[in-house]
Amino acid sequence: MSATSFFHRSVLLDEVLTAFETVSDGLIVDCTLGLGGHSEALLKNKKDIYLLGIDRDLVAIKCAEDRLIAFGDRFNTVHSDFRDLPNILAEKNLEKRPVNAILLDLGVSSMQIDTATRGFSFQQEGPLDMRMDFSQSETAADIVNSFSEEELANLIYEYGEEPASRVIARQIVDSRETKPINTTTELATLVVKAVNFRERKMGRRVDSSRIHPATRTFQALRIAVNRELTNLDKFIGQAIDLLAPKGRLAVISFHSLEDRIIKNSYRFATGACQCPPRLPLCFCGAKEKVTILTKKPLIANEIEAKTNPRSRSAKLRVCQKTQ
Ligand SMILES: C[S@@+](CC[C@H](N)C(=O)[O-])C[C@H]1O[C@@H](n2cnc3c(N)ncnc32)[C@H](O)[C@@H]1O
Repeated sequence: MSATSFFHRSVLLDEVLTAFETVSDGLIVDCTLGLGGHSEALLKNKKDIYLLGIDRDLVAIKCAEDRLIAFGDRFNTVHSDFRDLPNILAEKNLEKRPVNAILLDLGVSSMQIDTATRGFSFQQEGPLDMRMDFSQSETAADIVNSFSEEELANLIYEYGEEPASRVIARQIVDSRETKPINTTTELATLVVKAVNFRERKMGRRVDSSRIHPATRTFQALRIAVNRELTNLDKFIGQAIDLLAPKGRLAVISFHSLEDRIIKNSYRFATGACQCPPRLPLCFCGAKEKVTILTKKPLIANEIEAKTNPRSRSAKLRVCQKTQ
């Protein structure tokens, strides 16, 4: 597989370059390398940087390596989970080198969504997989066919913010009694049926202009399979600790659950106390480590939103390590 076999339009690219405009040399870590779009722009834009790209998807790593080959020894890649960043830096003998910038562009790449056999898309027939990292064993099918009805309903509600979560969970459990649910389209069909049933029961007309009824359920499963929100707050804290003074952290998120975690983690790192107001003393241990550079998250401009639908839900938050 080469980078040219796939396409992924990097979101908020100019905004990321602006976020890192004070970073002219040293080490930049792209924690979500994907097809290497942001990394390529950074390597082109900043002649004196060394870039370490991390991704848990081996196909993405191979594509990015092909794409970035012209930059020779100015970049290196690691197949890993970014949450292991402190160990990754140690293994690469980079732990003593100050990290000048860290980028996270969360979520899935178009390559992952568009490859039917990866099972991320409800629009294409494929195995119900959704693993970003094939070395992990649990797939979306394992969750769908083994979780209890209550566990499924909670997962779909919590990670998908899906109001029809209970009806969907019921439909899944009913259906798998006859036969396990193994493909994306089998699941999507069940979800559409459940959502439409609920809409009719509530006396609403089924509105085909709204997002596809399976969108939220697929998002919830993807988050669960890849444990996307697990320890994200802890990781933001670690990433800030690894930054050199005046180093910058830029995070692009694609849904409100992620964005809330980023926003709160940044706020905590400004030293803002998180304790309930009635406590006489601070127990949360908040210390001032960063300044937030984006009071409101940056979003795609009109042109980008028009030309790249994925960018419409993207939010970029940037902070800078204090001295
Ligand atoms: C939106 S894409 C990144 C696209 C990239 N910025 C570009 O311009 O081509 C997100 C990537 O992050 C990877 N990813 C998501 N969570 C990860 C994690 N915890 N550790 C490492 N990689 C992760 C995914 O496999 C995917 O390739």
